[in-house]
Amino acid sequence: MNVLVIGNGGREHAVVQALKKSPKVEKIYAMKGNAGIGEIAELVNVDYCDIKAVGDWVDNHPEIDYTVVAPDDPLALGLVDELESRGHRAFGPRKNAAIIEASKAFSKNLMKKYNIPTAAYEIFDSFEAAEAYVKTCDIPVVLKADGLALGKGVLICTTREEALAGVKEMMLDKKFGSAGNKIVVEEFLEGPEVSCLAFTDGKTIVPMITSCDHKRAKDNDEGLNTGGMGTFSPAPFFGEKTAKEVMEKIMQPTVSAMNAEGRPFKGVLYFGLMKTKKGMKVIEYNARFGDPETQVVLPMLKTDLMEIFEAVTDERLSEVKVEWEEGACVCVVLASGGYPEAYEKGKAITIGDLDEDCVLCHAGTAIKDGKLVTSGGRVLGVCAKGKDIEEARQKAYKNAEKISFEGMYYRKDIGIKYRDVERE
Ligand code: AMP
Ligand code: GLY
Repeated sequence: MNVLVIGNGGREHAVVQALKKSPKVEKIYAMKGNAGIGEIAELVNVDYCDIKAVGDWVDNHPEIDYTVVAPDDPLALGLVDELESRGHRAFGPRKNAAIIEASKAFSKNLMKKYNIPTAAYEIFDSFEAAEAYVKTCDIPVVLKADGLALGKGVLICTTREEALAGVKEMMLDKKFGSAGNKIVVEEFLEGPEVSCLAFTDGKTIVPMITSCDHKRAKDNDEGLNTGGMGTFSPAPFFGEKTAKEVMEKIMQPTVSAMNAEGRPFKGVLYFGLMKTKKGMKVIEYNARFGDPETQVVLPMLKTDLMEIFEAVTDERLSEVKVEWEEGACVCVVLASGGYPEAYEKGKAITIGDLDEDCVLCHAGTAIKDGKLVTSGGRVLGVCAKGKDIEEARQKAYKNAEKISFEGMYYRKDIGIKYRDVERE
C-alpha cells in the first residue's frame, strides 16, 4: 500500500516510523512533513488545512491507497469527510465527531449528559454573564476558550483578579481569536495527570499504553505552557484498578455517547485524565494522537500500525490483537531558545552518533542549502526505551547531549514526576 500521512511534527514522524515497519506499506508520502520525515517519505508541499486542495491532490495521485490525518485542524475542518466523499480511505474522525476536541462546550455538555466524570463547569457566550459569575465563584478557577487554540486556550487562575482579567482577554480582547467567543469556566481539580490514547472504530475501544506529558517550559512544571516538552510511558500510578475504572466509567461511555449523538467516532480518541480524590476525571478530549505522547507510545507498539488503521476504517478492530512491549520509553523535547514565545529559526543542527535504540523524532526541522536546520519551536524529540523509566530517561538524556543548535534548551526533569504516587 501507498500511504499519505498528513502533518509535519514529531507525532507525524513517529507515525511514519511506525508505518515504515509495516510489511503492508510500500511507500509513504507526507504532507508537508519535515526533514526527518523526508528521509523515509516523499514530501508533498500542499497546505493540509485547505481540505479541497488535499482532496484534489489525492484525486490526482491514484497511487495513494490510504490517508492518515494526524493534526487537529484538518480533522476539525472535515478532511476525512472530504476524502471519503471522493471515494478515498482515510484514518481519523469525521468532522461531526472531531468536534469532541474542537469545541470544549460540546465535550463538557456531552460528559454532563452521559454522566462521564469531569470538573463542574458553566458555559458563557456573553462577557457580562461570565464576568458576573467569576466575581463570586470559587478560586482557583480554570478558564477555557471553546475552540481550538494550539493547546494554549486554558488559563488556570489562582486569584480573582487573574480570573477577571482572563475573561476579558479571552472574550473582549480575543487573545485566542474566535476560539474565545464562548468560554468554559471550570472547577479547579488537583491530582496527577495521564494521557490515555485509544484506538476506536466506533464499536470497540482499545487503549494504548499510558503516558505523561510535561506542558510547562521549565523544570518542576514552571514557566509558560507549551505544546509539550517531553513525555514518558507508562504512567507509574496507572494500575489495573485504574485501567478498569477508566474503561468502564470513561472510555466505553464516551464511545457510546458519541454513537447516541449520531456522531460515531473512528480514529484515535485521546483522554486527558486526572486522578482526583474522587476518582479519575476527564480534563480534555482530543480527536487524534497526542504530541509528544505518540513519540513514546508508538515505539512500544508490537502490532502492525497499518493493520490497526485498516481495522478501524473497516470497523473490525475487535479482530486485532494490539500488543505492547514491556518496559518504558522517555522522550525529551529539544526546543528553540525563546519558545513558546518568539524564537529564531534556521539554526544549523548537529547530531552526533546516537545509540542504535534511540529514536529521534523530528518536529521543527528543515533542510536548507543541504543542511539540517531548525524550523519550529519544538525541534526534535529524543526518545529512548529502557527496562524502566529510569533507564529510559538516562539513555534519552545521554543522547540529547550529543545534539546541539544555537539557543537549544530542554527540560532536565522528564520522567521524574509521579514516582511516589501510589500505583493502583
Ligand atoms: P488542556 O489544554 O485542556 O489540556 O489544559 C491544559 C492543562 O491545564 C491540563 O493539562 C491541566 O494540567 C490543566 N487543567 C485543565 N483543566 C483543569 C482543571 N479543571 N483543573 C486543574 N487543571 C486543569
Ligand atoms: N500533548 C498534548 C496534546 O497533544 O494535545
